[in-house]
Amino acid sequence: MRGIILAGGYGTRLYPLTEVTSKHLLPVYDKPLIYYPLSVLMLAGITDILIISTPAHMHQYEQVLGDGKKLGIKLHYMKQEKPEGIAQAFLLAESFIGSEDVGLILGDNIFYGQGLPRMIKQAINDHQGATLFCYEVNDPARFGVLTFSNDGSVQAIDEKPAYPNSNWAVTGLYIYDADVVQMAKTLTPSARGELEITDINNAYLRDGRLRVVKIGRGSAWFDTGTPQSMLSAAVFMEMIEQRQCVKVGCIEEVAFRMGYISKAELLKLAEPLKDRVYGQYLLRVATEEA
Ligand code: TTP
Repeated sequence: MRGIILAGGYGTRLYPLTEVTSKHLLPVYDKPLIYYPLSVLMLAGITDILIISTPAHMHQYEQVLGDGKKLGIKLHYMKQEKPEGIAQAFLLAESFIGSEDVGLILGDNIFYGQGLPRMIKQAINDHQGATLFCYEVNDPARFGVLTFSNDGSVQAIDEKPAYPNSNWAVTGLYIYDADVVQMAKTLTPSARGELEITDINNAYLRDGRLRVVKIGRGSAWFDTGTPQSMLSAAVFMEMIEQRQCVKVGCIEEVAFRMGYISKAELLKLAEPLKDRVYGQYLLRVATEEA
């Protein structure tokens, strides 16, 4: 199983913040945004991960995350010259995917909820064709939206419809088999000039190979593309972390809990940070588990 984090794009809705750096390196409460989607893939058991970003920002990601060795995972990097659509990721990642299944997560998507990692792992185990994760939202017109038949099966997926047929939005977490690369090759750019992920999903739907997993209301999903949604996500994380004394999206903790690194390795990561809140948290995690 391979993983991809798509962390390119223009981030125009976050201007002028995105004049400073890439959207996915901006802070969401106490850590860079990309930590959250990275931790989702890691919690799902995916340890071979390609980060795709813009030529201008690639080196910053490499600086922040490195080759992944300290987290017991493998991180690879690839440039997307221009943001020509989410589905372009599969063309760029063709040799990385090879004949493996692949989990794609958008770098600006945050998921949080007890049982969510288990749900994603289960979906990976049961996986055939394409699996989408959907969430009920107030403002579906901003997303890919599901239309259901009377029997509850998915009938269609429409990208940003003016008149959505349901409130179920397709989130930025997708699992595909290796056929996704060939499917991506058949796409033509949409009216907005992008290779649309919704076209891929509709192709799987037509083939009868699309499955949808509904994320229940016990879990939270944030798409942090705007200043408001980024602030909401930050406020949410602050509340969870302060109330529960745990961190969300702490990649070193996830690496340890998933068994990618040992206690000794976690302590080694924490040691130079022991004067900082983050390092103290890592020390606590390491010793609590003892
Ligand atoms: P969007 O939010 O659709 O685009 P954007 O991030 O450029 O933001 P804006 O609309 O404000 O200009 O992208 C969703 C996610 O996918 C985001 O994390 C960026 C990423 N992305 C790419 O990496 N490459 C692409 O070609 C596209 C379309 C998106």
